[in-house]
Amino acid sequence: MNKEYIAVYDSGIGGISTLAELEKRLPAEKFLYFGDNGNAPYGNRTKDDLLKIAVNNINYICGFGVKAIVVACNTLSVTVLDKLRYYSDVPIFGVFPPVETAVLSGGRTLLLATPVTAAVYAEKRLNGVTAIGLSRLAGEIERRAFSLGEINAVKHTSDALSLEGLSRMDKAGFFDTVILGCTHFSFVKKQIVDHFKSKTVLNGNYFTAKSVLRMVKNSKSSVNNCKNRVLFVGRYARFNKSFYEKVVSASGFIS
Ligand code: DGL
Repeated sequence: MNKEYIAVYDSGIGGISTLAELEKRLPAEKFLYFGDNGNAPYGNRTKDDLLKIAVNNINYICGFGVKAIVVACNTLSVTVLDKLRYYSDVPIFGVFPPVETAVLSGGRTLLLATPVTAAVYAEKRLNGVTAIGLSRLAGEIERRAFSLGEINAVKHTSDALSLEGLSRMDKAGFFDTVILGCTHFSFVKKQIVDHFKSKTVLNGNYFTAKSVLRMVKNSKSSVNNCKNRVLFVGRYARFNKSFYEKVVSASGFIS
């Protein structure tokens, strides 16, 4: 089987923000997207549960003949990525909140993530970092995209922050850097920026794309046939494809 695709896998639509970054940085590659929307959200699950779900999904994805897998999910990346590597014959990349990068630049950093991811970083007790786990936001973004079927329903979730009590958090301008530590949060970036008024807002997608690019350059395995640039697979393929198309056509929706 020809291993031509780079697979991108998330609990649902969040990884579409990673896919967009990968497409930008690796224009000669073909991608395969798998969203496990039926099991989303992942962010409140146990590590055992996450591992079981992800191993099944990785096996499924490998059946398509992929040359690498990008786990476009911070929650899986910070908990089970090392274990997943045992189950795969191809390189597996993760998406991580770039907290250490923010710490190196100094100042106050706010990490917004799923409860699982936030707990991992809270335990590290990094200097100047406040980690907040949002237990409902990713699920709500997922639910609205699915039930309303259009991205503006997600984009204009001006109530999305109040869902988590964030709008009551009077911290405008307090944090120098805000990190979107869940790939779903890229779709409400504007609301987060408007609320916290932080100079810098980061996510892990750029750093992941850089690592994948390095692999592709080293293996010289780029493909140039751009027909079917992104193949969507799995039970929710149609939904993810239509969300992706809307994201791509709404320029500036994510950046
Ligand atoms: N988008 C994923 C992440 O980056 C998971 C969100 C969820 O399913 O809870 O963590």
